[in-house]
Amino acid sequence: MSTESTTIRWEQDRTGLVTLVIDDPNQSANTMNQAFRDSLAAVTDRLEAEKDSIRGVIITSAKKTFFAGGDLRDLIRVTPETAQELFDGGMAIKRNLRRIETLGKPVVAALNGAALGGGYEIALACHHRIALDAPGSKIGCPEVTLGLLPGGGGVVRTVRLLGIADALLKVLLQGTQYSPRRALDNGLVDEVADSHEDMLAKARAFIDANPESQQPWDRPGYRIPGGTPANPKFAANLPAFPATLRKQTNGAPYPAPRNILAAAVEGAQVDFETAQVIEARYFVELAAGQTSKNMIQAFFFDLQAVNSGANRPKGVEPRKVGKVAVLGAGMMGAGIAYSCARAGIDVVLKDVSLEAALKGKGYSEKLCAKAVAKSRTTREKADALLARITPTAEVQDLAGCDAVIEAVFEDTSLKHKVFQEIQHVVAPDALLCSNTSTLPITALAEGVERQGDFIGLHFFSPVDKMPLVEIIKGERTGEEALARAFDLVRQINKTPIVVNDSRGFFTSRVIGHFINEGVAMVGEGIEPASVEQAAAQAGYPAKVLSLMDELTLTLPRKIRAESRRAVEEAGGTWMPHPAEAVIDRMVDEFGRTGRSGGAGFYDYDEDGRRARLWPGLREHFTRPGHRIPFEDMQERMLFSEALDTVRLLEEGVLTSVADANIGSIFGIGFPGWTGGVLQYINGYDGGAGAGVGLPGFVARARELAERYGDRFTPPALLVEKAEKGERFSD
Ligand code: NAI
Repeated sequence: MSTESTTIRWEQDRTGLVTLVIDDPNQSANTMNQAFRDSLAAVTDRLEAEKDSIRGVIITSAKKTFFAGGDLRDLIRVTPETAQELFDGGMAIKRNLRRIETLGKPVVAALNGAALGGGYEIALACHHRIALDAPGSKIGCPEVTLGLLPGGGGVVRTVRLLGIADALLKVLLQGTQYSPRRALDNGLVDEVADSHEDMLAKARAFIDANPESQQPWDRPGYRIPGGTPANPKFAANLPAFPATLRKQTNGAPYPAPRNILAAAVEGAQVDFETAQVIEARYFVELAAGQTSKNMIQAFFFDLQAVNSGANRPKGVEPRKVGKVAVLGAGMMGAGIAYSCARAGIDVVLKDVSLEAALKGKGYSEKLCAKAVAKSRTTREKADALLARITPTAEVQDLAGCDAVIEAVFEDTSLKHKVFQEIQHVVAPDALLCSNTSTLPITALAEGVERQGDFIGLHFFSPVDKMPLVEIIKGERTGEEALARAFDLVRQINKTPIVVNDSRGFFTSRVIGHFINEGVAMVGEGIEPASVEQAAAQAGYPAKVLSLMDELTLTLPRKIRAESRRAVEEAGGTWMPHPAEAVIDRMVDEFGRTGRSGGAGFYDYDEDGRRARLWPGLREHFTRPGHRIPFEDMQERMLFSEALDTVRLLEEGVLTSVADANIGSIFGIGFPGWTGGVLQYINGYDGGAGAGVGLPGFVARARELAERYGDRFTPPALLVEKAEKGERFSD
């Protein structure tokens, strides 16, 4: 017998086994939308009504993924006014899942594909969880990565299933997404199936063997594994959680981990029903707040727009690269070669000598050995990857390459020379890319005959870990080259943003403002340790002075000299930044050029490890007792980057808001809680009482300009948008 409900299909066999197949007719994935809520209510009523003729229940899905989770389109629109509605809707789902789990009949989750967030929460309400070992299938509660918590009973049940410590550390606080096998090892599922049939057979076997199944937490005498805060032994360990939390957020304003911790600990000390209400309250508080909106915008909507090619020229046939030439086997070239080979592309890695090229390939050998040791890949796959990389010093070996990525020293004439050497050897229509981080692409393109095929492909270090690639369109770059560059970046599983040519493009230019602001504060006499602290607490992954040391202090001087020349050649006047004098003194007076030189803002030990902030900073720069509000310190860094991003939009270097947001988080460490550099302006929370959103941001920028310099004066585009009541969106 089979009956139709809108989203959940009821299929019942003669033995009284009911299979509930979740299959939203209007979407490619199942989500917790209104239709699902209604269907769940109807199905629950029916299960209770027909209980006597039911032997057991299997919950599965007809989609590729089991269930996607909360509907983010709805969640991003929640306001404090609609929060009650969200609370009620959430409680309704929770009540129905609870009715199913206490039906007195065995209920099995047959996870045919990914079960993340709400999907895994449905599974948690079942008595037995079986995951199909499908490629790419993931299991877990990643809500924290969107500024939320699992509000469908996920906190309440993981705590009762795994204990507070494991629930927090393995599932809730990091949002880890497990493969089915790792989910089994960590206790998130009970069985893994090799095939669809195997999964259903296992589900039936469980039902046969457990005719009156119950959740562990509904059995008499149940205790939360590992104890609860009421137990003195457990209570002694409690302070470790806030410490873990501090380590995770660095003191930055991420409210989700804090709410997760509170919901878990408070919920463990009360009965199941009360714990559900506590969880719902903490969930709604997060959903109605700004941070989850920022994070959903960036990590879901913007990321999807960027990766799906909103910026890729339409009408150009997709093309795959078969063989790529990587010129220069230094730090960047070696990493690029590895990333391409990992994606199945043949790589010819060229340097000035075979020895240098072999050394570059050695980097891939090291990464592969590590991956094998950690069981992230097999020896066979690693060997196949390495076999795809051919190190060489011979130009002829580049014959047949359909793309070139140049990563030699940062020098225009050298880059011109290497392209001249190879342009007639590679395929006649090969895509020509440069990984320069600062040199204008239009000028580099002048070194090749086919300027239309020349484009910037700016990778970030370390290439194997950094997900972003900034594609830079020169003045003469063709649309086809842009589309092919986009396809190549996607082929190697990275995220492409697209910008127009300009000195420093988007990322290098904007990160320069962050660093300049930190350095300028040292120059003003502010305690260097508190400058570092301000960056960390604003949510930057790297502290500002340590980042300067990594990049070396000679780099901004070189960029400054070139930029200054360009400004003056164009008849303009160079406006020095207060950071410049500090950098000059550090290099010229104290000989401190950064980590690679053994000394910079920090002292380093013999192994190159950061030892401490250089005490000389206090002696030569710090004005004892000089302080500015901590909030000003943080906002000077955040605002300097956001304001320059608006200028880049004005100048037409940036053309997409999503690209700016994603590029800032993934490329240059702009704090994730902001949702990216322009979303930070949209969602400005009026920190120092200046008001919220764009008008608040403009008012606060003017205040900072008055206190700290004209560089904070809001650009016309921003003021105009604020006045019109607009926000930044594509
Ligand atoms: P690197 O100094 O580690 O490597 C440069 C390599 O190019 C050396 O192995 C050198 O032997 C080789 N080379 C020099 N002349 C050559 C020639 N004629 N033919 C073939 N190879 C030649 O430099 P790194 O850091 O890898 O940077 C390379 C490029 O990537 C530069 O343009 C840099 O601006 C850019 N970049 C660097 C980033 C970084 O974080 N280091 C980030 C993004 C871009």
